[in-house]
Amino acid sequence: MKTTVLSIVGARPQFIKLFPLSREVRKHFDEKIIHTGQHFDPEMSDTFFRELGIPEPDINLGINQGGHGDQTGRMLISLEKQMTQLQPDLVIVFGDTNTTLAGALAAAKLHIPTVHVEAGLRSFNRTMPEEINRVVSDHTADHLFAPTQSAIDNLAHEGLQDRTHHTGDIMVDASRAIAHKARQKSSIFTELDLDGSYMLMTLHRPYNVDDTEKLSLIFRKLGEVDHTIVFPIHPRTRKMVDHHRITIPGNIRLIRPLGYLDFTSMLVHAEKIITDSGGIQKEAYIHKKPCLTVRPETEWTETVTDGWNRLIQPGDDNFTGEIRSFRPHTPQSDIFGRDVARTMVEVIKNHILTKEKK
Ligand code: UD1
Ligand code: UDP
Repeated sequence: MKTTVLSIVGARPQFIKLFPLSREVRKHFDEKIIHTGQHFDPEMSDTFFRELGIPEPDINLGINQGGHGDQTGRMLISLEKQMTQLQPDLVIVFGDTNTTLAGALAAAKLHIPTVHVEAGLRSFNRTMPEEINRVVSDHTADHLFAPTQSAIDNLAHEGLQDRTHHTGDIMVDASRAIAHKARQKSSIFTELDLDGSYMLMTLHRPYNVDDTEKLSLIFRKLGEVDHTIVFPIHPRTRKMVDHHRITIPGNIRLIRPLGYLDFTSMLVHAEKIITDSGGIQKEAYIHKKPCLTVRPETEWTETVTDGWNRLIQPGDDNFTGEIRSFRPHTPQSDIFGRDVARTMVEVIKNHILTKEKK
């Protein structure tokens, strides 16, 4: 009987990570996909499955909203039931969301071998929900796929070196798969009637957007940047802007969240990127775009030490100055690896499944 691999996803960045890995996994194994339902707007979920040709999830749990405990708890209960029925040989979880945590925990309690893709990232900021999710998922999963050297070092520091595999970052494969199409300007430019230079922005971290005063300050400061800033707005941020009627300066164009092709096309043609997203810091580096990260720290430390990513905070005197003047000129190094999906599947075949069968 063919080995069954269960991939568990729920949030936008996980669909993008699943896209190249699923294609490779399906060359060797039966794959089942569970979508927890954490992200549910068509433009945050369905668009990615359709556009990237990701197979429809076998099951969608439809779990979203609620506080962290409520959301994660409901996922845990449902995932345990589904895993008990499906009896997968291996579970794969991705990144650092509540979906990741619930998936890793449910599988561990059922003694199903589990891979954590994007293991070992640490911001060392425990007020971030993602930091708690990462630490618990890493200590729960059996096999840790680390994207970078700093991730490997973090795992070793926590005594997890024996479970660690240096695979590279799966987003390299996702970016590469879409790069050719994205370099030709997608129809989003016509749709937005956008001609000329612009910066591309995303913001969704609770510590930037859940505090009205901070979010208003960020917008005010960005209003002082004398440049068009296109902002595909995350539903979390949209809710805050609408609910608190936050003033949006004239140079900022709020648009709906974009599909991966449109977003990557906008990224590769942008002058600079302003973000608090984990994935977009990496994509900016991969596509050689200057990145200004609105955060006090980052897990993607190599992008900063390489000189292509700069951390900025709205309270900084030089916030707008940094945005205007940041121009990296240092050469890039090979932070994220290449041919990552293939490497991951080789590790699963040659190390994980053989070991689990002993
Ligand atoms: C989640 C992840 C975060 C990740 C982000 C990617 C957790 C704790 N956080 O944050 O790590 O960076 O996804 O985008 O798992 N909403 C909608 N429609 C949607 C999706 C969300 O309206 O399609 C609303 C939710 O109802 C909620 C808010 O946006 O009110 C936040 O959604 P949630 O999934 O809880 O967290 P994110 O901020 O999206
Ligand atoms: N992204 C997208 N459309 C958008 C904004 C982002 O396709 O409008 C993609 C982006 O290219 C990246 C991923 O979504 O691959 C990042 O997701 P997000 O910022 O939501 O989460 P994070 O990476 O911070 O967890």
